[in-house]
Amino acid sequence: MLKNTFSAILIIGLVMVGSSAIMAKGDDISNKVEDLISRMTLEEKVGQLQQYSTRWEMTGPVPDGKVAQEMHKNIKDGLAGSMLNIAGAEATRKAQEMAVNNSRLGIPMIFGYDVVHGYKTIFPIPLAAAASWDVEAVKTSARVAAKEAAADGLHWTFAPMVDISRDARWGRVMEGAGEDPYLGSVMAKAQVEGFQGGDLTDETTIAACAKHFAAYGFVEGGRDYNIADIGESTLRNVVLPPCKACSDAGVATFMNSFNEVDGIPATGNAHLLRDILKGEWGFDGFVVSDWASIDEMRFHGVAANKSEAALLAITAGSDMDMEGHCYFPNLIGMVEKGEVDEALIDDAVRRILTIKFRLGLFDDPYRYCNQNVEEVFLSAEHLEKARDVARKSIVLLKNENQLLPLSKENKKIAVIGDLADDKDTPLGNWRGRGGRNMAVSLLEGLQNAVENKSLVTFEQGPVFAENLPQFGTLVQINETDRTGLTEAVEAAKDADVVVLALGENCFQSGEARSQSEIGLKGLQQELLEAVCAVNKNVVVVLMNGRPMAISWMAEHVSAIVESWHLGSEAGNAIADVLFGDYNPSGKLPMSFPRTVGQCPIYYNHKNTGRPAENEEDYMFTTRYVDEKVSPLFSFGYGLSYTTFDYSGLELSNRDITKGDTLKVAVNLKNTGEMDGTEVVQLYIRDLVGSVTRPVKELKNFKKVFLKSGETKKIEFELTVEDLTFYSKKGVWEAEPGEFHLWVGTNSSEGLQSQFYLK
Ligand code: NOJ
Repeated sequence: MLKNTFSAILIIGLVMVGSSAIMAKGDDISNKVEDLISRMTLEEKVGQLQQYSTRWEMTGPVPDGKVAQEMHKNIKDGLAGSMLNIAGAEATRKAQEMAVNNSRLGIPMIFGYDVVHGYKTIFPIPLAAAASWDVEAVKTSARVAAKEAAADGLHWTFAPMVDISRDARWGRVMEGAGEDPYLGSVMAKAQVEGFQGGDLTDETTIAACAKHFAAYGFVEGGRDYNIADIGESTLRNVVLPPCKACSDAGVATFMNSFNEVDGIPATGNAHLLRDILKGEWGFDGFVVSDWASIDEMRFHGVAANKSEAALLAITAGSDMDMEGHCYFPNLIGMVEKGEVDEALIDDAVRRILTIKFRLGLFDDPYRYCNQNVEEVFLSAEHLEKARDVARKSIVLLKNENQLLPLSKENKKIAVIGDLADDKDTPLGNWRGRGGRNMAVSLLEGLQNAVENKSLVTFEQGPVFAENLPQFGTLVQINETDRTGLTEAVEAAKDADVVVLALGENCFQSGEARSQSEIGLKGLQQELLEAVCAVNKNVVVVLMNGRPMAISWMAEHVSAIVESWHLGSEAGNAIADVLFGDYNPSGKLPMSFPRTVGQCPIYYNHKNTGRPAENEEDYMFTTRYVDEKVSPLFSFGYGLSYTTFDYSGLELSNRDITKGDTLKVAVNLKNTGEMDGTEVVQLYIRDLVGSVTRPVKELKNFKKVFLKSGETKKIEFELTVEDLTFYSKKGVWEAEPGEFHLWVGTNSSEGLQSQFYLK
């Protein structure tokens, strides 16, 4: 048996800090929780820490199988705290009745589900929504998702995913807000506020779960579930800020990550969970493991059996065991033998019960199972919101000779590509309970927008991919069958303009979908080149869940519209942009590499001792001999149908000291012919620090609408707090010295100035 390696005194001290934080809330919830705990048996307490995935239709018979039988019995005996993957007012009511009506204390279960970017009405994947740089839009997505999920009996979503990701090979980049800690923090907070509202007892809100804690986005080589080997500086300065933003926003729960961090699996990582999350940040909600991540510590090689894994996890601060089957029943015997302090169990139970009370489940365990879903699901209001967020998420990457926007009249538009009439791919991965083929396709969107439908023709071209709905199956990509290629080229020849849909099937990105190549797959490149050979006016509409390596495309086609996986209203939203009914304003939340070999690539990198100032630089600098160091499209990049001019950058002071606020102002003029929205971005660089500092860091942004010809003065305030970082001393502080500052349209362009912190 593995010995408890942490000092008992330290643990008890931390447990008391945690519990006193809850007590200090001053509400009567803590009294009710303490009263309940005092009446619970050890077995009932450990049962609260167990979360089961549903294994049968709650309305049907219990199937054979040890775990299913055990789950059924335990729910009835009051020995199951939670279920995931159960959904539907009827099913959740049945399960809840089983727990509440049969068990000794009638403690309700909490039902969780991956409601990531919508439930029935599907919004853009989170990476796309982050490209909107629109806090209200992101909050709205989460708000609507919460309403629909709550109406279907759910209490809790496993979102937002706040992993900073710099490597497009990682399949899960689609679930997060990209590479930047500041943008990531803003988007994380917006989602927590959207899901939870101001009040968890409101029947239209659900508890959120910030995941994954922590550093999952740093898996080596972008390979899912791999190790993350980062030091404290990267952990604190890059990985943790969005997690902290969630904690500050009052997120109810956190989820562990599968990876190890510097040799210690996150699930058994006391530094992350006890020192930082529950200690420094005073987080008083609970931590759920990721799926079986407690048990997986056996495979990481830090626990010899389930009991050792349970001891590591509970000691580190993981409160609920998602499908690891380690806590129950092992912790019972371990407490009885004196191997685990019961105070650790009490702390975990206290946290879980507190959230159940905050959700109002003790007042009415069925409070989420009473709503009329017909009025809520896919309502006209929700679809309109989905369309609005979708068009805000689109990024215009190229628009040579102003090919876009397209005219709705007198032009023959050939819509080409298997993805163009795909009604499933736009829903993306992790689409809640969004049914298959429920999206408005690109083709439908274009046809909806024009009066004369005969102007919009369609050729599928070669089949791109077969979309297999079964869980755990890989997308089958067609590499050989060229049927349809000739017809597609003929259609392109005959058209005034080609709208060519290329990119990724919805299940090419997401969990377990890491890729070693991130260019066009199958016969897409061949189709692209064949179409470009016969028509100069090619607009590529990209659909994808990650940045892609598209250098050839960027050089040879006239226009590229990044549409990601935009959700239920994808086709209508893309048509809004292609025809100019909406002027695009999205900006990339992740750099697009020129080739996969540049990954990980991100704008806020370190300078190194041998910086490469430009692409043709001296060879003994940090560069590749066969490729540029810069990305194809950088973080923050995105075009509009109008143009913006920046001038007159002014700082209120050259020198600032603690307590000062630096005022930054710039004039922004819409110099084009269309009204439009620009995302004005403010970056800084701290030139010399006690630890190395990034060459640029986003510190603020503003989304500004300007009429054609209009000029506005855009103002920012920068405080010394904004200059702080986790320093060599191991504290958050701003260090005196010179700072550079840029205000501009993306991370690689902008007006520059400087100031000094005295
Ligand atoms: C595993 C994923 O990593 C996590 O994000 C998700 O919430 C759980 N499975 C539950 O589905």
